[in-house]
Amino acid sequence: MNISLSRYLVEEQRAKGKITPELRLLLEVVARACKSISHSVNKGALGGVLGSAGSENVQGEVQKKLDIIANEVLIEANEWGGHLAAMASEEMDSIHLVPNRYPQGEYLLLFDPLDGSSNIDVNVSIGTIFSVLRKPEGGIDVSEADFLQAGQHQVAAGYCVYGPQTTLVLTVGDGVAMFTLDREQGSFVLTQEKISIPADTKEFAINMSNMRHWDEPVQRYIGECLQGVEGPRGKDFNMRWIASMVADVHRILTRGGVFMYPWDKREPHKPGKLRLMYEANPMSWLVEQAGGAATNGKQRILDIQPSQLHERVSVILGSKSEVDRVTHYHQSAQR
Ligand code: AHG
Ligand code: MN
Ligand code: MN
Repeated sequence: MNISLSRYLVEEQRAKGKITPELRLLLEVVARACKSISHSVNKGALGGVLGSAGSENVQGEVQKKLDIIANEVLIEANEWGGHLAAMASEEMDSIHLVPNRYPQGEYLLLFDPLDGSSNIDVNVSIGTIFSVLRKPEGGIDVSEADFLQAGQHQVAAGYCVYGPQTTLVLTVGDGVAMFTLDREQGSFVLTQEKISIPADTKEFAINMSNMRHWDEPVQRYIGECLQGVEGPRGKDFNMRWIASMVADVHRILTRGGVFMYPWDKREPHKPGKLRLMYEANPMSWLVEQAGGAATNGKQRILDIQPSQLHERVSVILGSKSEVDRVTHYHQSAQR
């Protein structure tokens, strides 16, 4: 018999005691919002959702119409349920408090409403990434400081990938489960559980066009991969780069691999391109829950204490042996 997302969550709450009823409601609401975003994505040009919105976000990136639509869908869906205290998003400069007219809950929700924006108009997989934290005890008013918790404190994390199928991938600290959207039923159905990333791999994902800007340890690692069977690794590697983190991470959760968006010399003051709180943290927890690893080259991503909501980070994640190797190359370069 099919197990729906709702039933999976009820079991995580009732039998396993992994989540509270409020967190269950929150995750149901996020899934409903993703379903709605998936419908807009599917309509494409017919729904008038493609192209630029003509505005910029706090990171100085041009916003696409779908970035804004997805952001609004997530906010509207999550405002009234009473499970949230506040939200934060890649597309909003500062945090969004739940309006006074609604009850205030115990959780904080962070999201990248539309990941892979450069792929929207070319009909390539994109997604939504989300992370849930508990509001710190005490104090009625919520502030940005309440969000600045290390990734290890997440209570739920996941993403939804809008590709040939719409797939929701979730962890509440009890392994990683994947749910496929059944459009006829209108519900997410459990299609894989206990996801496990193989420790070894022959596949890497990195934007090779930035090669000349990388630091020495990343140059060394990729250089060795490129030497193939004749080089120090003694095997041929394959490369994939979708330019949607959701889709690249989805491949890694499915068949292994290593994904990197390292620091580079183009903008040396920035630790990396990806954002810690709503991209790197949720993806790192999913990867760790599936037996993989995630670091910034020096330190486990989930241990990083954020100092800003939109803070960036260098990311190396995926198959454990490869991530350990890249991290080791960074450590030996430091010495
Ligand atoms: P976003 O669309 O939310 O800004 O994120 C895009 C990110 C990530 O999804 C992807 O891995 C990376 O940017 C792609 O970067 P390049 O354009 O440098 O390939
Ligand atoms: Mn993104
Ligand atoms: Mn985005």
